Amino acid sequence: MYNSSHDFTFAIVKPNAVKAGNTGPILAMINKAGFEITAMRMVKLTRAQASSFYDIHRGEEFFIPLIDYMTSGPVVVMILQHQTGNSVGRFRELMGPTDPSEAPEGTIRKLFAESPRMNAIHGADSKMNAEKESNFFFSGIERFYST
Ligand code: CMP
Repeated sequence: MYNSSHDFTFAIVKPNAVKAGNTGPILAMINKAGFEITAMRMVKLTRAQASSFYDIHRGEEFFIPLIDYMTSGPVVVMILQHQTGNSVGRFRELMGPTDPSEAPEGTIRKLFAESPRMNAIHGADSKMNAEKESNFFFSGIERFYST
């Protein structure tokens, strides 16, 4: 049963990473870093869905290219729980910064991002957005919580 006090984050393996066959290696990194995948699906977003998901960036100069990119191929959406909590913060650390040229060794973006736009992975930036973004893609029946 859903309980908003649960700790989790929401992530997307983006089109360039899926296309390049890097879904498996990225999921392995996620598991190795101590995250459990508690919901997952592959989906090809429509422009309406991508625009709604990224509504917060509407008006930015990178909005249209971002929607072009995010609808260019299938993505893998998932809910993640870190075994020691702070899932949002720990996952942002594992991803590295938006611009891969600034990403430290050992981060997903250092290994798999091609540019600030084609940066391989998305992670929620707050608990509130983790909840919002998870609800966008998953119904309660598709979600389970390990403690
Ligand atoms: P994401 O974490 O999915 O959230 C918004 C996305 O917009 C971001 O990753 C990038 O893919 C993209 N983005 C953010 N800033 C820029 C930028 N300056 N140039 C191009 N794309 C950007």
